[in-house]
Amino acid sequence: MRASASALTVRQALVQASLAPIDAQVLLAHVLGVDRAWLVAHATDRLATVDVETYFTLAKRRRDGEPVAYLTGTREFWGLSLAVDRSVLIPRPETETLVECALRALPADRPVRVLDLGTGSGAIALAIAHERPRAHVLAIDGSASALALARRNAERVKLANVRWLQSDWYGELEGDGAPFDVIASNPPYVADGDPHLAQGDVRFEPVSALRAGRDGLDALRAVIAGAPARLVPGGTLVVEHGFDQAPAVRALMRDAGLADRGTFRDLAGIERVSIAMKTNSERSGAGAATAISEYEDTQ
Ligand SMILES: C[S@@+](CC[C@H](N)C(=O)[O-])C[C@H]1O[C@@H](n2cnc3c(N)ncnc32)[C@H](O)[C@@H]1O
Repeated sequence: MRASASALTVRQALVQASLAPIDAQVLLAHVLGVDRAWLVAHATDRLATVDVETYFTLAKRRRDGEPVAYLTGTREFWGLSLAVDRSVLIPRPETETLVECALRALPADRPVRVLDLGTGSGAIALAIAHERPRAHVLAIDGSASALALARRNAERVKLANVRWLQSDWYGELEGDGAPFDVIASNPPYVADGDPHLAQGDVRFEPVSALRAGRDGLDALRAVIAGAPARLVPGGTLVVEHGFDQAPAVRALMRDAGLADRGTFRDLAGIERVSIAMKTNSERSGAGAATAISEYEDTQ
């Protein structure tokens, strides 16, 4: 049976949603199961009534503030189409900077061990696993529902070189996969009283993925303090943090006995990712110098 046609064309539906054009296009394309280019080519096509109803329901939820990614159930990260729901943070473009930094510390031609702490949707773990097929990646999260979604994402993008563990940071690790060549983490880093928590898309995201104590550094303290005992000599810690947290994060890294390897800016020019190495007497010479110059070359 054919669905009944509404009086509304694609172009009219896009205008009448009263949304930012990109949001209207993404939602309508999602409802119709097409890409955005299709909407342009079929601007005067009439929509089925059932699609119009679904679309305007989603448009209202968007006007009420819900993030587009939760409405469509997907977000692209590092070229991978990941499922997202309200149990996980929506992966951000700036986190791709962290992936780039982690990859620079991971040779492609031999097996390497990687730990992703606070994996959420699995974005970082899966991006690294995709780029480094010989890597053994362990991804940890405290949230069982986040891990269930991350596991589904691994199947969705057909990557089998990631294992998943529910743990309070390093608490359940017990040598499982350690020591690591790289520990990567985008932990919660928003201060409890930050007014941004009550604004925009983040209102819909899990508080446990965002808030990190009075100064926003509680999770980073735990991640950094536990890193030296789980890194190989010469191993690298890569963490994402807030726009004004780089000096504090680098001080925490030095306090933990790690060698400061600098802070890197995201595509918006914001200091976003800080890096440190576990040095030893063998590696504090040529190897470490190579790593520094490689990082500097890419700045
Ligand atoms: C900012 S989100 C990052 C999600 C994902 N890595 C990304 O970049 O999109 C932080 C993640 O840390 C997890 N988390 C918070 N506290 C934790 C803890 N004590 N132990 C393990 N994971 C924790 C949250 O559940 C959340 O998934």
